[in-house]
Amino acid sequence: MKPIIEVRDLAKDYTMGDMIVHALRDVSLTISEGEFVAVMGPSGSGKSTFMNVVGCLDRPTRGQFLLHGQDVANMNDNELADIRNKYIGFVFQQFNLLPRTSALKNVELPLIYAGTRNRHEVAAKALERVGLGQRMHHKPNELSGGQQQRVAIARAIVTDPVVIFGDEPTGNLDSRTSEEIMALFQELNEQGKTIVLVTHEEEIAHHCKRIVRFRDGRVVNDDPVHDRIRATDVLASMPDADAVEYAPKTAAHA
Ligand SMILES: Nc1ncnc2c1ncn2[C@@H]1O[C@H](COP(=O)(O)OP(=O)(O)OP(=O)(O)O)[C@@H](O)[C@H]1O
Ligand SMILES: [Mg+2]
Repeated sequence: MKPIIEVRDLAKDYTMGDMIVHALRDVSLTISEGEFVAVMGPSGSGKSTFMNVVGCLDRPTRGQFLLHGQDVANMNDNELADIRNKYIGFVFQQFNLLPRTSALKNVELPLIYAGTRNRHEVAAKALERVGLGQRMHHKPNELSGGQQQRVAIARAIVTDPVVIFGDEPTGNLDSRTSEEIMALFQELNEQGKTIVLVTHEEEIAHHCKRIVRFRDGRVVNDDPVHDRIRATDVLASMPDADAVEYAPKTAAHA
């Protein structure tokens, strides 16, 4: 499979007065097309720093970084912004939607930057894909937390990026809603999307196909998941399964 993220001896230092924090030290790994990776590790171990660097939000201090075959380690801010818009979708713990703006308009935003025509149709399709076809004109405060996160996922996939990054995307959601969001990520991954999620929860990580563990800025463990959890199975076994407003069908019945 084609490598999407290739990092070699990647390092990130933060300077705090006369102190240097080594947030990442000599990280080397490859993430290829179709992978579904969980990034784990204790607080302060470098997970967010890693996501910010490989997500082109921040530059490494040293080391190599190829995204989709392009050398991004030394790009300037404008070049990085272009790469982000073209290749990357982000999902955050706090959803980061524009308030007072409809779901549809929120999802159209990345298309404006990309200069896409028929934005309306493309955004509507992305919302349908996450099961929100009936809620397009709702504003974030008129949607549940899980629905808001699905809007954020629609916004992340609307430009058809090569990789989706999530930093604790289920961190603010209850367990059923988290499971529904993981079902959606699993469905997207089955359709070929490469996904990288930071999570504190083993349970969430075991929905992925591979777990990379950080400690003190280093990768200390990198293993495939053998006992993978299928979110659709978990949802089906929950007592009030009928109450599930959205559960992807393709994954379970494929
Ligand atoms: N902007 C910054 N300036 C200085 N130090 C920073 C900055 N961002 C992160 N750090 C430091 O870098 C190290 C790694 O931080 P990072 O946010 O990547 O950890 P994390 O694994 O995401 O933790 P958490 O699980 O709490 O989110 C920590 O020691 C942190 O204090
Ligand atoms: Mg973090």
